Formats: sequence, C-alpha cells, structure tokens
Amino acid sequence: MSYLFCVYTVVFFMDNSTRLQYLEAMGVDVWVPREQGIIEVERKQAVDENVSDESPAHNSVSTNIGWNELERQVVECKKCILSESRKQVVLGEGDKNADWMLVGEAPNHEEDIAGKPFVAQSGFLLTEMLRAIGIQRNEAYITNIIKCSPPDNKDPKVDELKSCDGYLKAQIALVKPKIILAVGRVAAHAILETKKPISELRGIVHSLNDIPVIVVYHPAYLLRTLLEKRKAWQDLQLALKIYQEK
Ligand code: URA
Repeated sequence: MSYLFCVYTVVFFMDNSTRLQYLEAMGVDVWVPREQGIIEVERKQAVDENVSDESPAHNSVSTNIGWNELERQVVECKKCILSESRKQVVLGEGDKNADWMLVGEAPNHEEDIAGKPFVAQSGFLLTEMLRAIGIQRNEAYITNIIKCSPPDNKDPKVDELKSCDGYLKAQIALVKPKIILAVGRVAAHAILETKKPISELRGIVHSLNDIPVIVVYHPAYLLRTLLEKRKAWQDLQLALKIYQEK
C-alpha cells in the first residue's frame, strides 16, 4: 500500500472523528495508529457532480470601491430575483487581506440564515481541506460567485451569475489574494469563463489578472462522491506549491 499521501493525524484528529471523516472525504489517506498497528480508512465510490455548467457575463460594479460601499451595494442589490427570496446577502467571510481566496458557488439555506459562506457540512470539509495544507479558515477569505441563496439550492441561472459577477471582481480587487481556489465546477466556469469539464480544469494553474487560480472539487461533491478524493488532495498540494513559489 502506498504511503505517498499519508497524513498522520494522531495529534490533530484523534479526538475528533468528524474531522477524520472529512479528511477521508477529501482524499487524504489517513492512517490512524491503534494499539496493535495502523489501519487505512476505507475509500468509497463517487458519482458525477451535479452543478450548473452555465457561465456568466459581466455586470458593472466598479472595482475601485471600498468595502463599505461594496457591502452597501450588495445588501441593497435587487439585480435578480434571488433578492426576493433571500434572508440576507452572503458577501463573504475571513481575512480581507488574505493571501488565499476561496470562491464557491452560492450560499445554501443554512448560509442564507447565517449570513456566512460555507457554514454547513461542505463548509466543515472546506475548513478541513484548508487545515490539511496548514491554513486556518480565518486566514483565508471565503466567498461565492453568487451572494444570495437560490431557493431549494438550485443551480444559479445565467442572469443571477451575471448580476453578481461584478461583486466578485470588486472583492478580488479589494482582497488582492496571492492565490484563488475556484471551489467546484460552477465557480471555475464563472471565474475562468469556460465551460470545460472540471476534469480538464483541475491540475492546471490558471490565471485571473495575474493571480494564479487553482480549480478544486467542491466539498459537497467530495462528500457525496468520493472517487476523486485523491485528486482533490493533489489539487490542494498544487495550490500550496504555487503559493509557496510566489
Ligand atoms: N455554501 C457556500 O457558501 N458555497 C457553496 O458553494 C456551497 C455551500
């Protein structure tokens, strides 16, 4: 059996089986010492990611505005129908001067209530994915391409993507990250303006205004479908390498 991607989790994870499960889902081979030796956590199968392949055009939010103005515009936004059903706008969370910017798809029902991105199950995995490469969640800036929750967690529509496009650009201009992780296919399509399958987008260093962009599988996909978990770990390793070389 290969030890190539083994992560020894005794110190950090033995007291928390949930974390262990998340790392398993991510594809990090987790070896847990027991009294009589070590066991490899079982792997499971995956199915395809069920997310939209629509890609947005641009809207016209100035990239020169400050955080206060951006927050005001987003809170007051009525550019698409999602403004009618949202409980609150989910602009983003984390270090506004972060080196790492993570961009997911859209807030779900829990995040609509919390007003924060990635707070539910996939958020826990995302947090563990970051931790696995030595980054605390609050050291990163986390946002989505869509700032309002689509009802019933539906895939964002083209006009919804268009309406939010400028907000993300403004956020990127403000945070000035050293690296962007496009989390999942929908985010990757929007950020890179492509419709290529994620299998062709991952494993490559893309660029957005000279900022390296790495495409990673969405944690919700990894939780549902575990076939690609080793690739997810490889993508994180690639992101870390690119970041360290910058
Ligand atoms: N929650 C988010 O904030 N973004 C996603 O892409 C999924 C869940």
